[in-house]
Formats: sequence, C-alpha cells, structure tokens
Amino acid sequence: MKKENDMIILAIETSCDETSAAVVKNGKEILSNAISSQIELHAKFGGVVPEVASRMHVEKMNPIIDEALNAAGITFADLDGVAVTHGPGLIGALLVGLAEAKAIAFALDIPLIGVHHIEGHISANYIEHDLEPPFLCMVVSGGHTHLVEVKDYGSYTIIGRTRDDAVGEAYDKVARSIGLGYPGGPKMDVLAKTGNGKAISFPRTYLEQGSYDFSFSGIKSAVLNYLNQMKMKDEAINPSDVAASFQEAVIEVITNKTMMAAKNLGLNKIALAGGVASNSRLREEMQRKAKENGYELYYPSPIYCTDNAAMIGVAAYYDYKKGIQHDMSLNASSNIQFG
Ligand code: KG4
Ligand code: ZN
Repeated sequence: MKKENDMIILAIETSCDETSAAVVKNGKEILSNAISSQIELHAKFGGVVPEVASRMHVEKMNPIIDEALNAAGITFADLDGVAVTHGPGLIGALLVGLAEAKAIAFALDIPLIGVHHIEGHISANYIEHDLEPPFLCMVVSGGHTHLVEVKDYGSYTIIGRTRDDAVGEAYDKVARSIGLGYPGGPKMDVLAKTGNGKAISFPRTYLEQGSYDFSFSGIKSAVLNYLNQMKMKDEAINPSDVAASFQEAVIEVITNKTMMAAKNLGLNKIALAGGVASNSRLREEMQRKAKENGYELYYPSPIYCTDNAAMIGVAAYYDYKKGIQHDMSLNASSNIQFG
C-alpha cells in the first residue's frame, strides 16, 4: 500500500546492452527490477554492437516498463517521478531510455530525474545495506575503473581512475584471447577457481608512488605476449592458470590501492560497485584485507552489480531529495563529467 509520503520512482536504464526498468519506493525498497539482457545477441559479434543495442532497446523498452509496473503491482498513476540514466554510455542506447522517460514524465506531469550511470552503480550499495556516506567506493565495471570518495549523497570526488582500459574491459579481452565467449568476466571468474594464480607472473602496475590511478593495458599485452610465446614454442597453455594469474595480478593492485586510499582519507567503510564487483575473488581478497585493517566492506548482490534500473531509481531518490530534477532539455551524453 502506498502511504501519503511515499515516493515511488520508475527508473530506466539503457546505457549499454541491458534494457531495464525498475520501481523503487523511497530510495530503498525495490518493488521490481525487470531486465532484458542482449548478451546472446551481441555474443556472436564478440562484443556490444551499438546499432544493434539501440534497436533492441526500442523493441524492449515498453514491454520492460509494463513488466516492471505489473511486478510492482502498480500503474502509471502511482508514480511520483521518472529516473533515467542520461550518461555515460552508448549514445544511441541512452537516447532510447531518455526519450521514453521524458515522454512519461511529460504525460504524467511528474519530475524527471537524470542520473549519472556511475552514481547509479555506487547507489546500488544502499539497497541491501544500511550504508551511509562518507565511504570509499571502488567502481569496477566494463566501462569504468574509478576510486571514489563518497562524501555525501550526490557528492563525489574521484581520487583515482584508469589511464587506459577499464578492468572489466581487460577481463573481457583476456577472456577472448583464451577462447572464452563474451562477456568474458563471469567466465574468467569461474575458470580461475580451478587455476593456480601463481603459475604465471604477470605485471602489477602501480604507476607513480602514491598514485590512486590504474593501468590495465600492460597486463592485457603481457597475457597476449605470453600466449604468443607459448604458441611459438608449441607448448600448450593452461587456460585456468592464465585466468587465475591474470586475476591475481589485477586484484592485488585494486585491493592494495583501495586500502591505501581508505587509510590516507581516514575512511573506515569501503564499498564495491559495478559489474566486476560481483567477482568472487575480488570480494574475497577485498574482504580479507578490509578485515585485516579494521574496515567494513559492502558490496551489492550480483544482480545489482551489473547494469540494472533499480540502482538508478535509488540514486534518483537521493538526488531528488537534494532538489535535483531536470526539464525536457535534458540530453544524453556518452561522456558526462562525474564528481
Ligand atoms: O557494470 P556493468 O554491467 O557494465 C558497465 O557499466 O560497464 O559491467 C560489465 C562488466 C563486463 O566487463 C563483465 O565482463 C564484467 O563486468 N563482469 C565480471 C564479472 N561479472 C561481470 N568480471 C569479472 N568477474 C565477474 N564475476
Ligand atoms: Zn554499468
């Protein structure tokens, strides 16, 4: 039952290859979170094809919204706001969700709240935990690797970022090089469990002393070089060892830099966000080091780690409370500033 002060938001996420709509009550309660994944469609191309993604979003948008409303047991008339990812992401894909959100907000005369995709990923942590800022968030996804100081709801400072590939991108590229399909990240996670992480010594890139930035292009090249050398020597590779050794190297750097940042900033709460936050080895290592240093670690369930509209609805609730809402001039952008 809806109470007088309840705020029910319909959230829409179409920044990449997931068409998702969710109904979120008071920034916390997920009444529904419908997701239509295009993974199978893109798998045969080995990656996301932007034009194909846009077309699929157009096809799935209305059915997914109906599904979200039905699952929540509400109708359009119950909505108090519409939230939508307006960037960053694939521009054609973003525009589908944005146009839909604008149309609904206009027709119902309710607030439109544009959300930054990364803010959505970070906010996914509020769904299942009683986590409040300030905290440190390590955002690890297919498109981003950001170490973020979350000072307050809606107030962020990026203290470190990747200088080249995102960590999820590195996972996917290495996965492809050892013959795993797209998206490779989850497959690497499973395969690495049967491998020896110390079998191959891949480089750990820490950059300058004290830097919170990341670089994953070196390790990606190191894996490719290793595979080429083995091929030239006509020696068989052990894909599980490659996956485990790659994973150990990147996770060592990510976890060490996160610990260093938490210590230097005096933050004792650490959160993980983004698709790679569902990686079992990353969670395990981060948990071990967090415990060792006396920090509390938070991460969302896997369904809220990868792209979903629920996290957008949660972020929008806090933005709206801070007085943020947008008019019909809101545009989609493939590359909007954050923090
Ligand atoms: O957050 P997300 O759904 O999309 C972006 O905003 O980019 O993240 C997708 C990325 C992909 O690169 C995928 O391979 C990776 O997250 N990923 C994983 C795991 N699950 C998803 N990487 C490693 N281990 C996983 N379990
Ligand atoms: Zn994402």
